[in-house]
Amino acid sequence: MQLKYATGFLAFCTLSAVAGPLTKRRELDVWVPNITSPTSDTVWHIGDRVNVTWDTSDAPVQISNGASVLLNVHGRPAEDVPKLAQDFDLRAGFVEVTVPDVSPGTDYSITLFGDSGNTGENFAIVA
Ligand SMILES: *[C@@H]1O[C@H](CO)[C@@H](O)[C@H](O)[C@H]1NC(C)=O
Ligand SMILES: *[C@@H]1O[C@H](CO)[C@@H](O)[C@H](O)[C@H]1NC(C)=O
Repeated sequence: MQLKYATGFLAFCTLSAVAGPLTKRRELDVWVPNITSPTSDTVWHIGDRVNVTWDTSDAPVQISNGASVLLNVHGRPAEDVPKLAQDFDLRAGFVEVTVPDVSPGTDYSITLFGDSGNTGENFAIVA
């Protein structure tokens, strides 16, 4: 028991030394889930309620940071579009959002921020 603890502590110190002070706390539970919807086949209709989903099969027990869903256009955060969702449970694997009233296009994507940011495939939004 004590040996196990000591080994874990040593590993922690080694990680911390490599990662540096800024990332020390996050290093322990960084998780970048795979976004499973929307994908390139997805078409969102403005005003509809839709699901953003991601794979939770490798989710850590503890996720320390708040979650949010951002809309991107041409690979950059869409201007004047508030977060589609925030402060939901990342371990649920989905969150319902309302498709915002944006210019129809095929170059949208969403970014899911948990402990780390990650972005899904490009998809279309239509009127
Ligand atoms: C996430 O997607 C990548 C690329 O498709 C794949 O290599 C990886 O195994 C996936 N991870 C999980 C947990 O499904
Ligand atoms: C989103 O997914 C949840 C869980 O599968 C389901 O209960 C809900 O009806 C879905 N919402 C939409 C808008 O599809």
